Amino acid sequence: MNLSRRLGSLYGEQPSGGAAASLESSESDAAAATLSRFQEARAAENAQAATARDGDPQSTVLASEALGSLKERASAALYERLGSRLTDSSLDEEELHKYVRDELRLIVDAEQVPLTSGERHRLSSEIIDDVLGHGPIQRFLDDPEITEVMVNRHDSIFVERFGKIFKTEARFASDEALRKVIERIVSRVGRRIDESSPLVDARLADGSRVNAIIPPLAVNGPSLTIRKFGREALTVAKLIELGSMSPEMAELLRACVLARLNIIVSGGTGTGKTTLLNALSSFIPADDRIVTIEDAVELQLQQEHVVRLESRPANIEGRGEVTIRDLVRNSLRMRPDRIVVGEVRGGESLDMLQAMNTGHDGSISTVHANSPRDAIARLETLVLMAGMDLPLRAIREQIASAVNLIVHITRLRDGSRRITHVTEVQGMEGDIVTLQDAFLFDYSAGMDANGRFLGRTVPTGVRPRFTDRFAELGIPISTAVFGSLIPGARR
Ligand SMILES: Nc1ncnc2c1ncn2[C@@H]1O[C@H](COP(=O)(O)OP(=O)(O)OP(=O)(O)O)[C@@H](O)[C@H]1O
Ligand SMILES: [Mg+2]
Repeated sequence: MNLSRRLGSLYGEQPSGGAAASLESSESDAAAATLSRFQEARAAENAQAATARDGDPQSTVLASEALGSLKERASAALYERLGSRLTDSSLDEEELHKYVRDELRLIVDAEQVPLTSGERHRLSSEIIDDVLGHGPIQRFLDDPEITEVMVNRHDSIFVERFGKIFKTEARFASDEALRKVIERIVSRVGRRIDESSPLVDARLADGSRVNAIIPPLAVNGPSLTIRKFGREALTVAKLIELGSMSPEMAELLRACVLARLNIIVSGGTGTGKTTLLNALSSFIPADDRIVTIEDAVELQLQQEHVVRLESRPANIEGRGEVTIRDLVRNSLRMRPDRIVVGEVRGGESLDMLQAMNTGHDGSISTVHANSPRDAIARLETLVLMAGMDLPLRAIREQIASAVNLIVHITRLRDGSRRITHVTEVQGMEGDIVTLQDAFLFDYSAGMDANGRFLGRTVPTGVRPRFTDRFAELGIPISTAVFGSLIPGARR
């Protein structure tokens, strides 16, 4: 492991000096304490490293400048020697690494710059990170505490750690360097990015989700967003441990999935919708045939009886596009017991609602919305995108009869992600879809000294109507769930 990586994993992301900034408007004490710990640790490490090398801070700067320019020259020479080998996806990764290491040794030797073995090692690791890995963001990708890496521009990189967003000091040497890393990522999955197709969704070898966009669409230069694939799957048990849901809520949601309610998970961007959808899907019985439909596969269902479908963008000639909507329609002919759509964001919502209304109950999806009420409004808009020219009332009726439950997840200011609403869709009253919250987050409990919310998502005391279905189907639900006795509940 090279020095920068070691520092990265020792101290996590380096929100060093004044540049360290939480984007949350009211930064919590906990985050501030963590930050200052990072800063102190970083400063101490820097000082120690400087003294260990030559004891003189001034010469350290000079040495690092010299190393920097050597690194630049060596990288350029290496790129030149490697040529198209770098993006040749048929080349074995191990062979490529060996080739690169050998070439690099020759290049550095030819430079005839005296280097200590430590410097030499660090230089090679950094160049290899740049050329074969993901350059300066490699250490964030290696750091299990970091969940998202956002490269706004080559010199502006943010990361998410523990649900909070920090600016980092890391930077790519230039737009060109960033572009090379992007090209390498997308070519590995057989895609390309250039002026004629300037945006790409891809995945890293470990399953992390990548979006890259370059000029002319990205005005300030190439931009890269990586949603890291969690090494540890966030199961229901883990979500309970993290405080995202209570055991009672998990019991209710399990009963809802078993009772084949149609469920929409709603929430803002990056709040944990897909994660929650994945966790809820774990309640689907093993003998149900499940078809999952996604833009970029993220769901990891544990059941065996699963068919996974992924949509496809148009090719360079603008042909061959297969949309989520096409896949939802196709799935109806695949005899699914349950359809799980990663996210509805277009006309497919009409097909999804129709499927939910016509025998494919027990289906689950997510929608981007700020509240359960907003989720209904959003579904209305999405159905309009299907272009069927349906009257609003008809759309609302479809929604009201198709969707039984909305589970809303929020990323709170303290960085935690919690289910804040469990809301029943009861039906229509006049022209309005009626919603009834069964669980709500208790903001009134305030925060602790570290800025963490003390509240929990608590039952509102209103028993959802669908609990009658549990009794009919013999699905047990304990009295503790709603804090009061439910007819037919087990004690
Ligand atoms: N309950 C949770 N507690 C802590 N971290 C979580 C939780 N749920 C999700 N995460 C993490 O948050 C990040 C975003 O999760 P996820 O992809 O599920 O969000 P999303 O709402 O589907 O995002 P998008 O809007 O981009 O589709 C991931 O890194 C995930 O590991
Ligand atoms: Mg998602």
